[in-house]
Amino acid sequence: MNIISNAPVVQVLQQLHQEASREFPKILKGLSKGVFRKLRPEDMKDAYIAISKGQGEFIYDFLVKKEAKNIIEFGTSFGISTLYLGAAAKQNGGKVITTEILPEKCKIARKNFEDANLSEYIEVREGDALQTLLDAPDEIDFLLLDGWNDLYLPLMKLLEPKLKKGAFIYTDNATFKSARPLMDYFYSHSGKYKSRSLYDEKGGSELTEYLG
Ligand SMILES: C[S@@+](CC[C@H](N)C(=O)[O-])C[C@H]1O[C@@H](n2cnc3c(N)ncnc32)[C@H](O)[C@@H]1O
Repeated sequence: MNIISNAPVVQVLQQLHQEASREFPKILKGLSKGVFRKLRPEDMKDAYIAISKGQGEFIYDFLVKKEAKNIIEFGTSFGISTLYLGAAAKQNGGKVITTEILPEKCKIARKNFEDANLSEYIEVREGDALQTLLDAPDEIDFLLLDGWNDLYLPLMKLLEPKLKKGAFIYTDNATFKSARPLMDYFYSHSGKYKSRSLYDEKGGSELTEYLG
């Protein structure tokens, strides 16, 4: 298994995972705002709502094995997942484009990438993913979907023409009801997508290959 050994990346990740492990009250507070209306990104402005260490290590290892170079992420937050992607991009001679709608989160994420010495491998696009990824580059090797789940399907359709044959899509929280339209899309297009569920400590994710 490929493991991140770069000291600044390991240090920043350790600190951020530790902070994220203490954020349960912030998540509850944010979720409470979404009881009577749809949850908004601002409701979670202080929360990482990040992938777990296990997910990050899986993704890093997978990207290095696949030698993925063109990596796109929907949902930066404070950059925990992006650090795994950035470390793999550095290893593979590639690049990450990640996008986040909240400016304050972008600012903090950029600082985290600097502290990890990964800035040159990560471009942060501030704004709504459906706009910021309109001109995403062709030949995408890997797409991480980890933003608001109701945008998963529209984003997938936006990026589909830019996926390389044999590209992979990792969908976090794939078992949530709001991710259902994307899962239905994958499973009803079995000639185009080959998908499998991954069970991790946080719940269900999905790893999907684009067959072209
Ligand atoms: C689950 S968090 C991402 C966690 C991050 N991937 C990690 O593991 O560290 C989802 C993020 O998506 C952002 N987001 C929500 N809607 C968005 C949109 N339309 N465009 C870009 N980012 C969006 C939220 O502000 C939030 O920070």
